[in-house]
Amino acid sequence: MPIPQGARARQTPATTVPVRTGQAKPATARWRRCSSLARSYFDEYFAAASAAGIRQVVILASGLDARAYRLEWPSGTVVFEIDQPKVLEFKNSVLADVRPAADRRAIGVDLRQDWPKELWDNGFDPTAPTAWLAEGLLRYLPGEAQDRLFGDIAALSAPGSRIALNIGRGRREDSPALRTARERRKRLLAEAGITLNLEELWYPWEGRTDPREWFTARGWAVTTGDPVTLLIDHGRAQPEAARAELDHHILMTATRGDENR
Ligand SMILES: C[S@@+](CC[C@H](N)C(=O)[O-])C[C@H]1O[C@@H](n2cnc3c(N)ncnc32)[C@H](O)[C@@H]1O
Repeated sequence: MPIPQGARARQTPATTVPVRTGQAKPATARWRRCSSLARSYFDEYFAAASAAGIRQVVILASGLDARAYRLEWPSGTVVFEIDQPKVLEFKNSVLADVRPAADRRAIGVDLRQDWPKELWDNGFDPTAPTAWLAEGLLRYLPGEAQDRLFGDIAALSAPGSRIALNIGRGRREDSPALRTARERRKRLLAEAGITLNLEELWYPWEGRTDPREWFTARGWAVTTGDPVTLLIDHGRAQPEAARAELDHHILMTATRGDENR
């Protein structure tokens, strides 16, 4: 898919992810596949939103997402980033000397608290269309919190607003490759002095509403990205073994029409 006019990647070495060559370990290769897939998909989503005239962006659970710095935003674009206060404090300190490419407003608040109020207090305009992003977030929320989050997003979305998100669907098979990936992650965390089982922080797919159905039921026009096709479009055809796993990955965008809210 060609990158449309609008938010394009800036060629700044400081924020460009290095591309390594050579044979990656299966777990690393899988991580790279999924993260580069999501990165391209959501970069293109923002490019299309910018091209459509949207100048208000909210990146939920932004973590270390560098799009406010890395993409070329049209003048006047405001990018709100929401994450836990400590995460944003760390990010702000690391990037203190880097100038964002948009009017970046970092909001440290727990998404289980009254984050819409914080957004308003920081200048969010509910009458302007917004491009929302929830990348790598939903699995940290139980089903009812996910529904509440979607409800808040819909209530804050003026006509023409969009959302993009991803989530792993269904139960993944406990394959040897997954076990290796888990062990590796545990080892890396232990080396950093962190005794944490990340998977204990994740909530399963079962028991939550399929986001595609949630937004469709409320009249948003939903489009899904097919991970395998997207990777082929980007010149990265995948071996058969990787396809089943990629099929678990939902990539979705939705656009709000005029009537529903
Ligand atoms: C896997 S990271 C994804 C970060 C970023 N969106 C990306 O894709 O690179 C998950 C992020 O969700 C944030 N997060 C999880 N639960 C949260 C909550 N209740 N409130 C705010 N942020 C939360 C974490 O702090 C973390 O930065």
